[in-house]
Amino acid sequence: MTTIAVIPGDGIGPEVTAPALDVLDALGLDARTDVLGHVNADTYLRTGRALSETDLDRIRPCRATLLGAVGDPRLGDTAYVRSILTTLRLELDLYVNYRPVKLWHDRLSPLREPSRRAVDCVIVRENTEGLYSGVGGSTRTGTDHEIAMDVDLSTHQGVARVLDFAFSVARTSVCLVDKANAVRNGGQLWQRCWRAAQDRHPHVATSHLYVDAAAMRLATDPTAFDVIVTNNSYGDILSDLTAALAGGIGVAASANLNPTTGQGLFEPVHGSAPDIAGAGTANPLAAILSVALLAEHLGRADQAERVRGAVAAAVARGHVTPDLGGSLGTKEAGAAVLAELARA
Ligand code: NAD
Ligand code: IPM
Ligand code: MN
Repeated sequence: MTTIAVIPGDGIGPEVTAPALDVLDALGLDARTDVLGHVNADTYLRTGRALSETDLDRIRPCRATLLGAVGDPRLGDTAYVRSILTTLRLELDLYVNYRPVKLWHDRLSPLREPSRRAVDCVIVRENTEGLYSGVGGSTRTGTDHEIAMDVDLSTHQGVARVLDFAFSVARTSVCLVDKANAVRNGGQLWQRCWRAAQDRHPHVATSHLYVDAAAMRLATDPTAFDVIVTNNSYGDILSDLTAALAGGIGVAASANLNPTTGQGLFEPVHGSAPDIAGAGTANPLAAILSVALLAEHLGRADQAERVRGAVAAAVARGHVTPDLGGSLGTKEAGAAVLAELARA
């Protein structure tokens, strides 16, 4: 039996994790959950540490972890959020952040031209390097002469492996997004690794865009893309943009993966949404679609498709939360997906 670690987290994290766990239950996977309810801001405020070595020891043997969201307005973001999210990504070496985006219903698209609406692509975000490497420092800290540096780290091995993953999931094409016209050393390393990856995968169509142009193209014709592969920061930003194209951050799911070890961490792309936390209106679809990615990871593509079908059906009926134009609360929107699952 597989054990799935669960970190509900903060804000709307626990609110959207509850319906996601109901959906997980309904799939009848051969799995049990290990809920780490204390990995949150309260624990951090009380003890100075939210994710302990003991917690990591509980998570390490799990092939999959489901995370709600972390982040708390009482805390400065960098240290706290990093101590959970970035720590898990780096400790488990989850070097791929797989962020699929799909328009579940035409009504959800912000694009006026119908032929350009049907976004259905994946952002493959490098997940352990770049500006998130933690390399850097500051001198004369806190003075008017402070100098701060965060190194945009790229390694040959780190870039080559994420490019290979991108090619491995391509249906039609892979587009490299970088800023090699301005970022010299890392830009050239990515370009060299890109040419080598193209040679290793000669049958996949490829293209290249600078990130500013990619943002423009995504906002005007997202149907042009299948797989976009990019670095940690650009992947973070572009995946909020693509989320918006599919109806909003409330429907964007993600998988943090290490294809070599087989471990994965599954979470909505959104954060803890302090502005709506406690209101009972958070959209649970991103968390539920993260369960679909988790099921796929455990070899149950059939169950993943069931979940996606149920989500599409609930959206089509308008059984959704206010961010998607509906009037349901989190629990009701979760129940609507469960009802569709039962129908299928
Ligand atoms: P956010 O994603 O929490 O919220 C951005 C906006 O989207 C808000 O207006 C929010 O109400 C809305 N929103 C988000 N999720 C929603 C949902 N499920 N349904 C309906 N509306 C939703 O981003 P933020 O406000 O920049 O960050 C809040 C906190 O979350 C910060 O501490 C940040 O560091 C953290 N964060 C955590 C994660 C994560 O755990 N993976 C991701 C992003 C941000
Ligand atoms: C995400 C989040 C995180 C990131 C933050 C909270 C550190 O925005 O998962 O997209 O930038 O990776
Ligand atoms: Mn983000």
